[in-house]
Amino acid sequence: MRRLYTTLNARFLCACLSLACLLPQSAYAADTDPAVRVLNASPEAIAADPALAGFVKQTAESAISEHCSRCHGPELRGAPGAPDLLDYDWLWGSATDSSAVGAVMQIQRTLLYGIRNKDCPPEQQSYGACAATRFSQMPGYLKMQTLNEAQIADLVEYVLKLQGGEADAGAAGRAEADFAVCTECHGEFGEGDPAFGGPNLTDAITLFGNDRETIRDVIANGREGACPPWGDTLDAAAIKALAVHIYNLAEK
Ligand code: HEC
Ligand code: HEC
Repeated sequence: MRRLYTTLNARFLCACLSLACLLPQSAYAADTDPAVRVLNASPEAIAADPALAGFVKQTAESAISEHCSRCHGPELRGAPGAPDLLDYDWLWGSATDSSAVGAVMQIQRTLLYGIRNKDCPPEQQSYGACAATRFSQMPGYLKMQTLNEAQIADLVEYVLKLQGGEADAGAAGRAEADFAVCTECHGEFGEGDPAFGGPNLTDAITLFGNDRETIRDVIANGREGACPPWGDTLDAAAIKALAVHIYNLAEK
């Protein structure tokens, strides 16, 4: 049996090697196609090559007006629930990557599989969402009856205090113990955790708003913001172009 495998493996290897002889021709074609070159180039290499930079800008701008601006706004500056894509305050991943390549790959991943995408057959789902999608959820603590109205009112003040806004110091103090359940996704000090898409609660940038009623509603009822996956709508070069374009425009 083992011998059969070895023979089969050897044959497979030969087939691969002879296929490889054909490659230089197609590699030559690939060299001239800006879409293929963009796929294989770093953000720096793209910026340094006018043909590639032009391809990226044009491809991304047309995809944005066709697919993205209805939620993220025409300039990608966001709307309640749909983040500003140019503020360099990432919910998912990129903030932790210091290199341009790493950051662009994180954005590509978000674009390919979406965020909280549930639009796939049950057998492709895991824990109620499509397997590769970005997933985690802001729980609704009143709905789940984990926290009561008074505790939530105190947490609202705690969040306002974290943001550096005007807050009731006594209420914020009382909320300190309850905030322990929040740190899993928002970080020990509320600084956010891109692994869970948990927003940074310590800056003025908010996804939903920073008035008391909005913050109470988020904590009481939860949220489930979703970005569609684009892997079936846009080809790989368009996805890469979008990721590079957004990275380039973002205010680092
Ligand atoms: C139906 C509305 C909708 C459309 C259309 C949409 N998005 Fe989104 N997008 C969202 C929402 C909502 C979020 C925030 C999800 C969350 O809470 O984590 C998001 C998040 C993102 C993020 C993550 C940002 C971060 O801070 O990590 C990126 C990147 C993104 N969208 C890019 C795009 C691009 C590019 C397009 C067009 C190809 C697009 N989106 C189209 C709703 C949309
Ligand atoms: C399981 C992960 C998780 C836990 C635990 C969690 N959150 Fe969240 N939280 C999120 C996510 C994810 C979002 C973004 C929601 C979305 O986009 O759908 C969010 C959003 C928020 C927002 C809105 C931020 C903005 O920018 O508008 C506030 C406020 C908030 N959470 C507070 C809390 C508090 C207070 C607790 C604890 C009582 C808590 N969260 C626990 C994941 C979590």
